Amino acid sequence: MKSPLLNKFHAAQIEGKGNPMMQLKLLLLMLVVCATADYVRPPPRKTLSFPWSKKPSALPQQVHISLAGDKHMRISWVTSDKHSPSVVEYGTSPKNYCFSSRGESTTYSYLLYSSGKIHHTVIGPLEDDTLYFYRCGGKGPEFQLKTPPSQFPITFALAGDLGQTGWTKSTLDHINQCKYDIHMLPGDLSYADYIQHRWDTFGELVQPLASARPWMVTQGNHEKERIPFLEDSFKSYNSRWKMPYEESASSSNLYYSFEVAGVHTIMLGSYTDFDENSDQYTWLKADLSKVDRERTPWLLVLFHVPWYNSNEAHQGEGDDMKAAVEPLLHAAGVDLVFAGHVHAYERSNRVYNGKSDPCGAVHITIGDGGNREGLAHKYIDPQPEWSVFREASFGHGELRIVNSSHAYWSWHRNDDDEPVRSDQVWITSLSGSGCLPEKGQELRNIVMEP
Ligand SMILES: [Fe+2]
Repeated sequence: MKSPLLNKFHAAQIEGKGNPMMQLKLLLLMLVVCATADYVRPPPRKTLSFPWSKKPSALPQQVHISLAGDKHMRISWVTSDKHSPSVVEYGTSPKNYCFSSRGESTTYSYLLYSSGKIHHTVIGPLEDDTLYFYRCGGKGPEFQLKTPPSQFPITFALAGDLGQTGWTKSTLDHINQCKYDIHMLPGDLSYADYIQHRWDTFGELVQPLASARPWMVTQGNHEKERIPFLEDSFKSYNSRWKMPYEESASSSNLYYSFEVAGVHTIMLGSYTDFDENSDQYTWLKADLSKVDRERTPWLLVLFHVPWYNSNEAHQGEGDDMKAAVEPLLHAAGVDLVFAGHVHAYERSNRVYNGKSDPCGAVHITIGDGGNREGLAHKYIDPQPEWSVFREASFGHGELRIVNSSHAYWSWHRNDDDEPVRSDQVWITSLSGSGCLPEKGQELRNIVMEP
């Protein structure tokens, strides 16, 4: 990191040559520098302010895109105008829209708030790894998106618990600098926390990134917004962030899967029933039984509350889901599990049932996007044997899957507004590792249970 103290020290060294008083000051300064040479963690930053400005009522706002089945993309946006059509025109050259799709729309009300018209329109079939130009609702600005590749390499950006503060902006700026294909967010998006217009400002904040690359999200506790007898859970989240659950044979927007370029990714809900008799568990078994590791050698899972967490924050909150679901993921040979919720970064060894296990998954907590609640600083001591790296700083992760066997994971700390790569590791897929054939049989047994 660039320390201001170190800069002062070097400047004073140049100025103070031959002056005894200056040399004494230099010595004192050096002692201060030595005492503070470790990384100085920055404090939380303020929530961003979004001054209201009048916009044309048909102007597409809060544009974001998500994968919607093979070679298809869902375009989502909001208009104040309730008569604006849910039409997307698109093509591979600017302002030349050879194709057009019509979709669906919804609105919702929450206490005294009424949403704009929320449009969801699926476009495709699309070419892989191709730049498209598109326009929403027949007017307004042109947007660009790039479809993901159909083959390795492919890069995922990851950051959870985003919120909308100065640190969120810093994280988004860093992600924007990296060449990635898909953003994945393991829960806690806007930190609207019942104040619905914050969903709108969050949509505006992320639009520059989320309109250009697919954002695949799952939900956290801050998406619940349930008010007993008045408002159901996940009302705003489900209306605004529609994910490809129907395309993956799920009956709920709260859990789904998608496949892209040799990677099968499963998004689960930490706040939805997950016991053996639940719909989510039944769907998960069915989805895992369809995974073909020849076609998708990499198997990833995301949910909000971490199962392997040595931070004092939210300690043990994931235990029930871990007890119910971890055997299934282990039997399937899941490579990586990403979670959020804890506002810090942690990476484990391959782990199963509380201990390092070569056939277990690598668990990564990446709830460090930058929300207003700040960082979780306190860790359990001693560090558990399965925990490899842990640090309470804001940042984001990048997973570059190079080929069917190797992926490079890196974590980038927001260090005084510069992305600094602070943790990195090569990860080998469990495909072809010797873990799978036997475990595959185990999975079939689990799946075949009545
Ligand atoms: Fe959370």
